[in-house]
Amino acid sequence: MRQLLVTSALPYANGPIHIGHLVEYLQTDIWVRFQKMSGNRCTYICADDTHGTAITIRAQAEGRSEEELIAEVSEAHQRDFSGFGIEFDHYGSTNSEESRAVCHEIWTALRKADMIKEEEIDQLFDTEKGVFLADRFVRGTCPNCGSTDQPGDNCDKCNATYSPADLIDPVSTLSGTTPEIRSAKHLFVQIEKLHGFLNDWTQSGTLPSESANYLKNFFLNEPLRDWDISRPGPYFGFEIPDSPGNYWYVWYDAPIGYIGTTKQWCDANGEKLDDWWKSENTEVHHFIGKDIQYFHTLFWPAMLKTAGFSLPTKVHIHGFLTVDGEKMSKSRGTFIEAAKYLDHLDPSYLRYYYATRLSSRVEDLDLNPEEFVSKINSDLVGKVVNLASRTAKFIQNVGLSSEYPDDGGLFETFAAKGSDISEAYEAGDFSKAMRMIMELADQANPFVENNAPWELRKDESKAQELQDVCTVSLNLFRTLAIYLAPVLPELAIKAGELLGEELTSWDQAQKPLTGSAVNKFKHMMQRVDPAKIEAMIEESKQVETTSTTAPLFEDSGDALAATPLGEEITIDDFLKPDLRVARIIEANEVPEARKLIQLTLSLGGDETRNVFAGIKSAYEPGELVGRLVVMVANLAPRKMKFGVSEGMIIASGPGGKDIFLLSPDEGAVPGQRVG
Ligand code: 2FM
Ligand code: ZN
Repeated sequence: MRQLLVTSALPYANGPIHIGHLVEYLQTDIWVRFQKMSGNRCTYICADDTHGTAITIRAQAEGRSEEELIAEVSEAHQRDFSGFGIEFDHYGSTNSEESRAVCHEIWTALRKADMIKEEEIDQLFDTEKGVFLADRFVRGTCPNCGSTDQPGDNCDKCNATYSPADLIDPVSTLSGTTPEIRSAKHLFVQIEKLHGFLNDWTQSGTLPSESANYLKNFFLNEPLRDWDISRPGPYFGFEIPDSPGNYWYVWYDAPIGYIGTTKQWCDANGEKLDDWWKSENTEVHHFIGKDIQYFHTLFWPAMLKTAGFSLPTKVHIHGFLTVDGEKMSKSRGTFIEAAKYLDHLDPSYLRYYYATRLSSRVEDLDLNPEEFVSKINSDLVGKVVNLASRTAKFIQNVGLSSEYPDDGGLFETFAAKGSDISEAYEAGDFSKAMRMIMELADQANPFVENNAPWELRKDESKAQELQDVCTVSLNLFRTLAIYLAPVLPELAIKAGELLGEELTSWDQAQKPLTGSAVNKFKHMMQRVDPAKIEAMIEESKQVETTSTTAPLFEDSGDALAATPLGEEITIDDFLKPDLRVARIIEANEVPEARKLIQLTLSLGGDETRNVFAGIKSAYEPGELVGRLVVMVANLAPRKMKFGVSEGMIIASGPGGKDIFLLSPDEGAVPGQRVG
């Protein structure tokens, strides 16, 4: 018997679980259930990842403490997971004393190994919010290719990686202000000291080959980059004991949460942590997405190695979910939260659909709604459940034949396939396992068709034949239910109830069931109703807010409601007003006019325009001189009481103090056309 410690990535405690997350948790749960059914000792650990700036921002926005927020999110996450039949042996939190203790233990080892160094670094600081900005809270222009609106750590367009301080025109997504660069002490782990070890370990067969090949590049020619693992306070996390005022960066304590949470499970179950994390007898398996492999395949093994913990036996890495070939999208309604899915559809459907799509390769998988419907309806309802629903009722009174009848070798074929299917599960090749199982189902159905029990039952002299045909059919169904049990635990329970036994072990598929009672057939699985998918998508539709993950901007819809959008126009209509960048070179009071300021606008060179603008309630003439504005430069001149107005400047707002001039970003020059 093998002993396995299995983890899924710890979900951030700042948002709900959605169908994208579920790829990994279902993948892991299926693998764990398979291991348990195969007789292995397997402990499945997960926890919420609770630290970092995002949590603080959301807690502040909601006017409560971080602890309150993470407690509520943890409950919601666990409810969602359990709704999908994902069964952890223990679900914890990185914000636990057990995790803190392991953080200390690993830290002490890193210090002792002289792996930590201190350095002053420049970081972007949001002066309005009073926090240093994590990479994903900064956006700006890529210093490499010049693409605008790029995240703080790497460019979506050219894939360059950089530090947020290198961004051109950075903007804090927390406040919309321009952050300033501040210097602060940070602590770094020098993983280069383990260059040779990490090089060998990443190429040792522990990782999928795609990932191992990808990582090769990191070891070529250049030293491994030091890893910045501290953040100056205020920061929601653990304070570093020998560096007061500094906190461990969330990615330091996140994977340590795997061990801290195992410790909680050990304490509750009379187990020793060392038997699970410091023993050659225990395999450690991580399931993660390809976006976080860098952390799990370089930093994490470096920490484990230094502190004497077991290294991962295998890191299982999956790709991303697309829906109908596209990224999940809130506006299209394909960003579907777990709880929303459960309002409409049976979790077994998604468990099976994902299983048919998952392989051991690091590749994206697509959820295609039409295929989803047809796979469930034709495979599960049409080929598997049908074997029981069409036969069980005929032998309810007599039970299964006392001897297993001659079935032309079908049961034997089914039993023999067990080891291939098991191998596919073990390798994470669930799609292959599902294919093999459905091929078996394809052999079982003709047997029922050809023997037509619904005809046999009309002739009393064929009672034995009827019982035998139904016994074969129910046994084939039972074998399929066992093979599908890691994916469809509910179906296995219902199959077990029908046949009066629990289907919990892989080996049960090797021997047919005979002579026992058959209980009343109860409904096992409904066909998918496409209308329910449509309703779920409709209810998931939201206005797309921002490309960052946290709900950072909560603008009210009042302004738009007060002045609804105008009639559609053509591009030619749009091009009629000649909008230009202009500089205000002179601004004067117009004593006789209550609302107006006289402006002299420069369009560059000697070209100027005189404009009377109704902005006196919101601006002082003195503050206007020098700034760039946008003007309508081809508006017919209008004679006014105080002179001729030769254009208009663009502003928004309801009026009074709330008038806001539109300004071009820095770099624009007078005379440039806008549009
Ligand atoms: O990417 C994420 O969602 C992280 N919260 C995963 C952490 S995994 C582990 F290291 F804790
Ligand atoms: Zn770029």
